[in-house]
Amino acid sequence: MRNLDRITKTLEETTQLNTLTFLDVGCGTGIPTLYAATRYEFADLRGFDFEAPLIEDARRNQEKFPKAGRRCTFDVGDASQLKLPKARYLLFLANPFGERVLEQFISNNLDILASTRSYIAMVNDHGIQNVMATSGVSLVHRNPTYNCSLLSVGDADG
Ligand SMILES: C[S@@+](CC[C@H](N)C(=O)[O-])C[C@H]1O[C@@H](n2cnc3c(N)ncnc32)[C@H](O)[C@@H]1O
Repeated sequence: MRNLDRITKTLEETTQLNTLTFLDVGCGTGIPTLYAATRYEFADLRGFDFEAPLIEDARRNQEKFPKAGRRCTFDVGDASQLKLPKARYLLFLANPFGERVLEQFISNNLDILASTRSYIAMVNDHGIQNVMATSGVSLVHRNPTYNCSLLSVGDADG
């Protein structure tokens, strides 16, 4: 989880984590979300994946971390269709899908992300050029050694 830690440390320099919903997009079995819940004071922690069996596994993993697990919610959802409810997000994208779905997901949710001054974290950040070309999205920090990036949407400081 070193990349999650690297990105979160950068974010903490300017933003209080308890103003953010951590959302793991394409969360698989939920381990990064549960890890984040054990270490960081996000307001809420969520993960979704379009593979229902992986979400069942994530919910089983949740039971193994009683305290952190209670702070997390895992749901089945398809990023190419999903409209996010209003919240200020840290979207955590750890290599979840190809660039087309990524563009679709960001553009379907751009209004909400910009109006809440949300952030996007990308691990293995191929596709970052397309995301950065999206209006209102700016690079906060990129670690070229580990190919992980933090981007803000709208005017995200504070
Ligand atoms: C390469 S795995 C990465 C899993 C996890 N993020 C990690 O770093 O271990 C890609 C994950 O994204 C999910 N996924 C792919 N396309 C998706 C979509 N359109 N909506 C939601 N989840 C999707 C897959 O089911 C899979 O769990």
